[in-house]
Formats: sequence, C-alpha cells, structure tokens
Amino acid sequence: MKFFIDTANLAQIKEANDLGILDGVTTNPSLMAKEGVKGQDAIMQHYKTICEMVDGDISAEVVSTKFEDIVEEGKKLAAIHKNIVVKIPMIKDGIKAIKWFTDNGIPTNCTLVFSAGQAILAAKAGAKYVSPFVGRIDDSGWDGMELIGQIAQIFDIQGYKTEVLVASIRNPNHIIRSAELGAHVITSPLDSILGLLKHPLTDIGLAKFLEDAKKM
Ligand code: G3P
Repeated sequence: MKFFIDTANLAQIKEANDLGILDGVTTNPSLMAKEGVKGQDAIMQHYKTICEMVDGDISAEVVSTKFEDIVEEGKKLAAIHKNIVVKIPMIKDGIKAIKWFTDNGIPTNCTLVFSAGQAILAAKAGAKYVSPFVGRIDDSGWDGMELIGQIAQIFDIQGYKTEVLVASIRNPNHIIRSAELGAHVITSPLDSILGLLKHPLTDIGLAKFLEDAKKM
C-alpha cells in the first residue's frame, strides 16, 4: 500500500519524506488556501516545489467545473511536472474530463467520492486513482471503511486498474483498516502517519532498556 501525505504544508511534506516511506502527495484547494498560497503564479510554483521535494505522484486539483475549463486547467497543471496527477471532482463534466485526460495519457485522481457507484464511474472513465473520503463519511454517521471494502471488492472482481486511494483520513486506525481491506493507497495528514509509530508498551520497554543499559 502506497503512503501519500494529504497537505500543502512544505515542512510536513519534508518531515514525512525524510522518514523514507512517502510515495506521493495530495492537495486540494482548502489545503492550499490554508498555507496562504494565493494567485496563479504562486499556486503553480507551490506545486513545482512539492514535485521537486517528493519523487512520486503529486495530485493538483482543478477548481473548474465545466468540461472545457477542466481540460484547459488540467493541461496547465499537468505541464508543471511529469509527476502531476490532475485531481478532478466527481461531477458529470469531471467524468468527461477524466476520460479526455485518460485518452491523452494524463493521469487523474477522481475526488469527492462517497459511493461505490461514483467509484465505478471514475474507474470506467480511466481514472488512475479514485478518492473516497472516509472521515467525512464517518462524520455523517456512516461507516467510511465499509465503503472502502465495497469499492476494493468491486475493483478486484471487475479487474479495474484504477487504484483505491483512501482520503479524508482522521486517525491511524483508518490507515490500518485500509491496508486490511486491500486499498492501494492512503493519503493522510502527518499526525495520523506518525500515530502509527506509537504504542505505550514501546515507550515503557524503551525506558527500561535505556535504564538497564546504564548497568551494562
Ligand atoms: O484531500 C482530500 C481529503 O483527504 C480531505 O480530507 O479531512 O478535509 O475531510 P478532510
């Protein structure tokens, strides 16, 4: 299972990349705005910087919603770097645009996916990744991980090449469950990735080893 970090924060991207386990980065307009990235030139430069930091797929999201505009915006994003994956929302024109990019050899990530039906459409259009938002489903009182299991099973049965990219991760358990269910990728905030490191018995055990080491 590939590990992506879900942020536009350069310090956090560096920290995850320095661990040596990072396979890519996902961003979205909310994450870019949070970092204060404003204006077309600054946005393009920020994506370029991320691409130069991490050797892996970097999702850059379009903000257009009409087919022709999505294609134009996506082409500009894809021209930034060979590793850019054009992130496109799950809307009718988005599906048309995903098919256009697929036919033109540009990888896409279909975002804002909340149902198996949406995931099937994205796969049929040839998306490289489909991004179900597990945390937001949990927040609404449903079970996000149940959807991941359903999509993973459908893609396996149908032989779809589209990878299941689990997004909107809120805790380390979402990552563990994603691995159990056969997801291809998770994209996570840094704290949930670092949360995988933690266990109180590790802390207690290490303290004891270090104490005993003084007696050696
Ligand atoms: O990048 C898409 C997704 O991961 C957003 O997560 O926490 O805003 O629901 P969140």
